[in-house]
This record gives sequence, C-alpha cells and structure tokens, in this order.
Amino acid sequence: MATTRCIVFILLAYFHFSDASLHFASYYEDHMVLQKSPERSVLWGYGPEGTQVIVSLLGPIKQKTSPVTVTKGIWRVTLDPVEAGGPYNVTAAVQNSTVTLTDVLFGDVWLCGGQSNMCFNTSQVFNASEELALAAKYPHVRIFMAALKLSETELTDLIQVELPWSVPKARSVADFSAVCWLFGRYMYENLKYPIGLVESCWGGTPVEAWSSSRALQQCGLEPTRDSPQENNSVLWNAMIHPLLNMTLKGAIWYQGEANADYHQDKYNCSFPAMINDWRMAFHQGSGGQTAMDFPFGFVQLSTYKKGSLDDGFPNIRWHQTADIGFVPNHRMHRTFMAVAIDLPDKKSPYGTIHPRDKQDVAYRLTLGARAVAYNEKAVPFLGPFPSQILYTGIYVNITYDQELSVTPSKDIFETCCSEIKAPCDPKSLWIPAPIIQWGPATVHLSANMCPPTTEVAALRYAWKDWPCDFKACPLYSASKVLPAPPFISNRYPIRGSVWTSY
Ligand SMILES: *[C@@H]1O[C@H](CO)[C@@H](O)[C@H](O)[C@H]1NC(C)=O
Ligand SMILES: *[C@@H]1O[C@H](CO)[C@@H](O)[C@H](O)[C@H]1NC(C)=O
Ligand SMILES: *[C@@H]1O[C@H](CO)[C@@H](O)[C@H](O)[C@H]1NC(C)=O
Ligand SMILES: *[C@@H]1O[C@H](CO)[C@@H](O)[C@H](O)[C@H]1NC(C)=O
Ligand SMILES: *[C@@H]1O[C@H](CO)[C@@H](O)[C@H](O)[C@H]1NC(C)=O
Ligand SMILES: *[C@@H]1O[C@H](CO)[C@@H](O)[C@H](O)[C@H]1NC(C)=O
Ligand SMILES: *[C@@H]1O[C@H](CO)[C@@H](O)[C@H](O)[C@H]1NC(C)=O
Ligand SMILES: *[C@@H]1O[C@H](CO)[C@@H](O)[C@H](O)[C@H]1NC(C)=O
Repeated sequence: MATTRCIVFILLAYFHFSDASLHFASYYEDHMVLQKSPERSVLWGYGPEGTQVIVSLLGPIKQKTSPVTVTKGIWRVTLDPVEAGGPYNVTAAVQNSTVTLTDVLFGDVWLCGGQSNMCFNTSQVFNASEELALAAKYPHVRIFMAALKLSETELTDLIQVELPWSVPKARSVADFSAVCWLFGRYMYENLKYPIGLVESCWGGTPVEAWSSSRALQQCGLEPTRDSPQENNSVLWNAMIHPLLNMTLKGAIWYQGEANADYHQDKYNCSFPAMINDWRMAFHQGSGGQTAMDFPFGFVQLSTYKKGSLDDGFPNIRWHQTADIGFVPNHRMHRTFMAVAIDLPDKKSPYGTIHPRDKQDVAYRLTLGARAVAYNEKAVPFLGPFPSQILYTGIYVNITYDQELSVTPSKDIFETCCSEIKAPCDPKSLWIPAPIIQWGPATVHLSANMCPPTTEVAALRYAWKDWPCDFKACPLYSASKVLPAPPFISNRYPIRGSVWTSY
C-alpha cells in the first residue's frame, strides 16, 4: 500500500514537472520582442515526447521551420533572421494542437541586471509622473520582469515571471526598473525600431550571487555566504541561467554597492570574470546567435555617505573598470560605462544610496551603447582622462585626452607624498593639490604641499565616496555632459606609466 502510494506520488510529481502539453518556455509570451537580424532568434518550449514541432511566423513576412522532435520534453528552433518590425503571430504546432504568441515584434533585446539601483522603479525617480505619462507613447518598447527567485542548481526555465511581456502603460512601467526603461526608451528614440527589455535584478545582492561557479573559481571566490540570496551563484542559477537560450543584443548592469564591504579587493577580478562568463554562456546557450562579445554597459557607483572617508565606493568604482579608470579597455572589451559620481541625492526618501536621477544615468548609458554597441563613431561617451602627468617638483601638470570644462577646486585632486619610490595605498599620506591653472586640455596643480623630505609619488582624482555636489564636479568634457571619471595613478613603477618627470 505504502509502495503504491509512493509510486503514484512519484508519477504525479513527474507529470507535473514535465507538463507534456505543447507550450512555450516561461518567457515567450504575447507582446514580446524577439531579437532581430542579423542574429537569429531562438525559441523553445515543451511538448509531448517524440512529437514533431513546427514553428511558423505570420506577419509582414512568413516563415516556417523544419520539424524538430521533442526530446526529454523539450523542443527548440532557431528562426531565420527577421528584420525589425511586426506585429507577428508565432505559432508552434504538433499534429493535433497549436499554441500561438500574438503581437510579437522583432527588435533589439537588452537584459538589465544588478541590485537595488537597477530594480529602483520608475515611480521612484525625479519627475516620475511625467515619465509615467509618457510610457504609453512607446508601444514598441516592451517590458518583462523575472521574479525574485534563487536556486542551488542551474535551472532551465524561470521559476516565476513577475511581469509578463507587456506593452508599456503607466501602471506597469511604475513597477519596472527606471534605468532599464529609460535606457530602452532613449534607445528607441535613436533607433526607431522595437526594443525588448528583460529586468532580472535583486536589491542588496553581491556580484558573487550572479556569477557561475566557473567565474567565481577564476577569482578564488569559492567560500559561500550565509544569507540565502547573497550566496554564490544562486541568482545566476535561477534568474540568469534560464535566459541563456534566448537571443540577446546586449546587457546593462547596475551593481557593486553590496561589494563595497564584501570581497571588495576581488571585484577587479569578479566583475570582468562575470561579464566574460555571461558572454560565453549566452553565446553557447543561443547556439552562437548572441554575440560572443555582446555589448555590456554598466553604471559606475554613484554616492552614498557625504563626508565619509570610507574608500569602499572609490575602490569599487576603480575595480569596475578593472583598475584602468575607463572602459572599454584591454581587460574589458565592448563594455561601456555611465559615470555617476556627480549625481548624488542628499534627500532621497529611499536612502542616499538610491539617487533619484536615473534619467542622466540612463542617458549616459545610451551614449556608450550608441558608440560601442551600435558603432556610431561620432558619439562622445568617455569623459576626460589624463594622457600625461608631468611632475616638476613644484607642479603636477596634467594633459587630458580631450578638451575640458573646468571649475577650480582646492581638494578634488590629492597627491600622495612619499619618502620612497613605491606605489601608494589608501593609508599613505594624501594631501589636497589645488588646481592653480588650466587650459583647453590641461590642468596644473600645486604640488608643494608635500613635507620637504617627500616627493609626489601618486595622484588621485575624485577619490571620495561623495566627491562633488549635484552636477558640480570640477572636470567635465567641453560639452559639460560627461564627468571626468575618478582615477588613481602611481608614479612608480615607471614602466608603462603616464608620468614624466622634469
Ligand atoms: C494574430 O492572431 C490574432 C488572434 O488570433 C489575429 O486577430 C491577428 O489577425 C493575427 N495576426 C496576424 C499578423 O496574423
Ligand atoms: C494528440 O496527440 C497526442 C500524441 O500523438 C495524443 O496522445 C493525444 O491524445 C492527442 N490529443 C487529442 C486531443 O487528440
Ligand atoms: C515601486 O516603488 C514603489 C514606491 O517605493 C513601491 O511602492 C512599489 O512596491 C515598487 N514596485 C516594485 C515592483 O518594487
Ligand atoms: C549557500 O550555499 C551552500 C552551497 O550550495 C549551501 O550549502 C548553503 O546551505 C547555502 N546557504 C544558505 C544560507 O542558503
Ligand atoms: C585587484 O585589486 C587588488 C586590491 O587593490 C590588487 O591587490 C590586485 O592586484 C588587483 N588585481 C587585478 C587582477 O587587477
Ligand atoms: C540551453 O542552452 C544550454 C547550453 O547550450 C543547453 O545545455 C540547454 O539544453 C539549452 N536548453 C534548452 C531548453 O534548449
Ligand atoms: C525634471 O523636470 C524638470 C522640469 O522639466 C527638469 O528641469 C529636470 O531636469 C528634470 N529632472 C530630471 C532628473 O530629469
Ligand atoms: C606646469 O604648470 C605651471 C603652472 O601653470 C607652469 O608655470 C609651468 O610652466 C608648467 N610646466 C610645464 C613644463 O608645462
């Protein structure tokens, strides 16, 4: 009796798990956006074992795939390339049943990931009511949100969908990621074809939770943590891995706050490793359709504690660029970054760690996307960065890689005063170096504040949690749109250095 009951239970569990009726995977729905040409869109779902599935496309063009056999309860097809546009009906058919997705568009699909600043929703931003009133004017920007779920093992499909693929309305956009929505809306203004946005984020989570064990291993990050959603790989397993088989254009990411006090020193490894691992996995999962080096944009951390000397945020900002200061660079190909040090929000009702100006963040991301992902050569997206630092004993004269807009400051630059010719660290003696002169692309600092037995051994810019007031950093691009990113530069070792002495 007990045995029979047990067998019945197992059979029920089996049939529940592999529901044999013909249907699409969780994230293929009405109103969705599929990746347009030149990539080919991948679709998959479930069906009765051994049956033949044919997928057809009805709309501006027609398409019909060759039959594929359902194996282990799953079928999967790759469409021929489809140009941007729609609407289409996508039908999957076995002999005696069909399922149809209606109002499907082809365009670019972007994945939006990270922690609370990515989840920060459009009802929380400055001018929220104006933003929400605009939502319905963008019916070709479609939104989808994965539910907050974790798993100890890599999952094939999402456990739950929070927001099904939707045509934007004030109400759905209110709950949707502001950075993701605004990025999509601004990209639509530029591209004028459909954009699909997939939000998959969770507040307070470290990069380790979003990384596969492969990626973590590369950085020696095997030890696990004792809060469930911060544990290694749990969000990768439940909220990213299930999406690998969908074709994507690229990803944007806003995360790092949770690593300011957790494996901070490893972020220069863990972040680039996660990006490269996602790229490899999405490329494989889509059968080579999602580019091996798909564009990956991210927001450099904004601000948290005014007046704080804690260097967690400055270090993470630096590590977000693999310690180079700007992206793309040789360690982070095809990436782009929105600098946000100048967008603090002292009065944010959601805490100062959640600044409400997401419009500028999203706009700066779109500049990077246009340049890096869409190859618009003439779009400036990098703020000024030093190309040469000249130390004369009295002055530090910096030459920038572009023209500047300068507001003098006494303490945004700091020099490290050292008795030995060695790299400086946060515990070294750092002294403010006032800006005394500037030209179209040069900034001259006074360096005679160092004690007499010492010399300038390093220079840093905006190396504080909260370095400036709102949109009032001392250095911007000539157009005043792009803030100079923070940097730290050691004079020693000399090899490969931008420093010259006089
Ligand atoms: C898609 O299906 C819907 C509902 O059956 C129908 O009204 C519509 O005309 C179809 N569209 C196309 C492009 O076939
Ligand atoms: C559809 O086909 C499957 C497999 O060939 C069969 O098991 C099922 O009974 C059929 N369903 C209907 C409604 O005819
Ligand atoms: C969006 O933000 C509002 C205001 O904080 C909040 O009430 C709502 O629950 C948020 N929605 C989601 C989905 O987080
Ligand atoms: C974290 O993950 C490890 C390894 O999978 C597991 O043994 C542990 O129970 C998890 N901890 C929590 C708090 O979920
Ligand atoms: C990462 O940063 C740490 C701490 O600053 C440093 O010791 C290490 O060399 C850096 N590693 C890489 C790969 O850049
Ligand atoms: C998704 O892609 C992975 C990697 O190629 C593969 O192992 C898995 O079977 C695919 N899943 C589906 C449902 O096609
Ligand atoms: C909010 O709207 C005002 C008035 O149009 C505008 O000046 C301001 O820049 C907007 N703020 C943001 C963050 O977009
Ligand atoms: C460095 O800057 C100082 C102050 O503007 C200037 O007097 C000096 O000529 C500069 N030196 C060089 C070599 O550019």
